[in-house]
Parts: sequence; structure tokens; C-alpha cells
Amino acid sequence: DAADGGTGKRVLLARPRGYCAGVDRAVVTVEKALETYGAPVYVRKQIVHNKHVVATLEKRGAIFVEETEQVPEGALVVFSAHGVSPAVHAEAADRQLRVIDATCPLVTKVHKEAKRYAADGYDIVLIGHHGHEEVEGTYGEAPEAMQVLDGSDRGDGAPTGAEAVDALQVRDPEKVVWLSQTTLSVDETLETVDLLRKRFPLMTSPPSDDICYATQNRQEVVKQIAADCDLVIVVGSRNSSNSVRLVEVALDAGARAAHLVDFAHEIDPAWLAGVRTVGVTSGASVPEDLVEGVLARLGEQGYDDVEEITAATESLTFSLPKELRSPPAGRA
Ligand code: F3S
Repeated sequence: DAADGGTGKRVLLARPRGYCAGVDRAVVTVEKALETYGAPVYVRKQIVHNKHVVATLEKRGAIFVEETEQVPEGALVVFSAHGVSPAVHAEAADRQLRVIDATCPLVTKVHKEAKRYAADGYDIVLIGHHGHEEVEGTYGEAPEAMQVLDGSDRGDGAPTGAEAVDALQVRDPEKVVWLSQTTLSVDETLETVDLLRKRFPLMTSPPSDDICYATQNRQEVVKQIAADCDLVIVVGSRNSSNSVRLVEVALDAGARAAHLVDFAHEIDPAWLAGVRTVGVTSGASVPEDLVEGVLARLGEQGYDDVEEITAATESLTFSLPKELRSPPAGRA
């Protein structure tokens, strides 16, 4: 058609994409902490799993550390959106750190479920990725009652699927509940739950979805566009669970190829050979300017006919941690 000079090159832009309410809140938390208390503000772990966001906040005076023991006594530390175990809160209190907790409220919800089911005597199966910060934090709420079930194949020879389910040990097969990491593949998780239910027919499910609305919506729209795409580009960092899942979902749903990039310059021109339709989306920790960079890069290659495909509209926002809420007008 005329818009693309007859080449048929086009972009299907997924919506929703990018920042979720929990990431937005976490990033604003660090910005506001810098404004209110001045630099340096320590942040335990990457505030959100995105290279660009972390580098930008570093320039403004945030210091990222792996553990609270790297924070000077009495200093201000922000906990990341992924949540921390009670042990980390205790360490921070020991070192008299001033803590602002930017844990996403939807992660906190899973922590509360874990605590409640553990107190009620359940064995908890936490479906999630070994070693992911969120899983470490949730696990720490009830290590004596919880087992992590990593359904995916990490190539390390650990059991997957039914074998991993068989390896679980529970006290009472009638008192088992499953919970999950918030950023998993919806479909894969349902498969894992089916396997679990075969072994534990009376298993309890969480009261509401643990996989959060943002993860679900971003996967849903990718599923809608994938089959029409020769290539899907997901903007996001390698350590971002929900971004990596978007690549997998795109491939499962019929995209011929799918790649994860942090920045536009990582797009390999060879990926575009013979490609007519490119799908573009971004993970929940990705600022929109990085997507704009990708669209500009694609535009230079003739992909300037951009159609946005909307699967859901999102309006959720979370209030900031209490330490940063402005006092109501009229109060000092
Ligand atoms: Fe929270 Fe989901 Fe975002 S758990 S941080 S809303 S990806």
C-alpha cells in the first residue's frame, strides 16, 4: 500500500506493554527518596529488572547493592519491587537502616498468602523460578512449609514437569496449596497446576491469581498478534522474568522468530531479512522511550506503518510507600 511504498512492511505494536503499576511505583519511590532525602539512596538489588532504569537512577545518586550488609549503618535503603524475605527486614533493623519498602503490593499479597497457609498447617508449592529474587523473598516467609517447583527446563538436569511434581514431599496430601511467582507464563503455569492436581486431587488454589494482571495482559496481546508476525521484538532485560516469558509466549503462539533486546541498537539487521510484519512489545519494567527507540530504528528500515493492537486497558495505580506520601495540604 501507499503508506509503506508497496513493501508491505508493518509493525504491530502490542498494548498494554511496558510499565506496570508496581514498577512505576518502585521507580518513583527511588526518585522521590532522592528528592526528599538527597543522595545517596541505597537500593537493595535492582529496583526493577531493567538495565536502563538502573543506570539512570545511578546517575541521579542511587547506589545499588546486593545485600543490606553493604549499606552503611543508619543509611537509607530502598527494597526492590520483587520483595524481600523477613530475614532481610531483620538484618536491616539490626543495622539500624532506614527502610523504604518498594515491594509491589501484588507480591506482598502472595507473601501474605504464604504466611497464612503456613500458619494453617498447609504444605505450600510455590511455582516459580529458582534463584529469582521474588521467589527467594516469598520462600523466606515460610521456608519450613514451602517447596519451590520450577516447571521449566533450565538445562541443568534438574527434574521438570511430572518428575518435579513427583519429587515433592508433603505431610498431608489433602492439605496442599499452590502459589506462584507473579511473572510466569500463564499457560505453562496452568499445565503445571494440572500436573500437581493429578498428584494432589484435593489441592487448594490461591484465593485469586498470583500471576499479576500486568503479566497476564502483556502475554494476552502478544498471543493475539504473534501468528501474524514474522518477527516479534520484546524490549526488556535478560533478568526480567516477565520479559523473557513474552519471547516464549510469542514463539508458542506462532511467531516465526522472537528476540529480546535491551536497546534498539541490538536489533540485528539479519533478523529483518524477508520480514514483512514485526510485532513489538516490552516487559513490565521497560520505560516507553526504549520502545520508541526500537520503533525509530524499525522506521529507518522501512517499517513505518505502525498499528497498535489493544487487548486490555489498564488503569491500576498504587500509592507510594507511606514514608514518601506528601502530607495533606495545611499540615507541616
Ligand atoms: Fe507488580 Fe506485576 Fe508489576 S507483580 S511489579 S504489577 S509485573
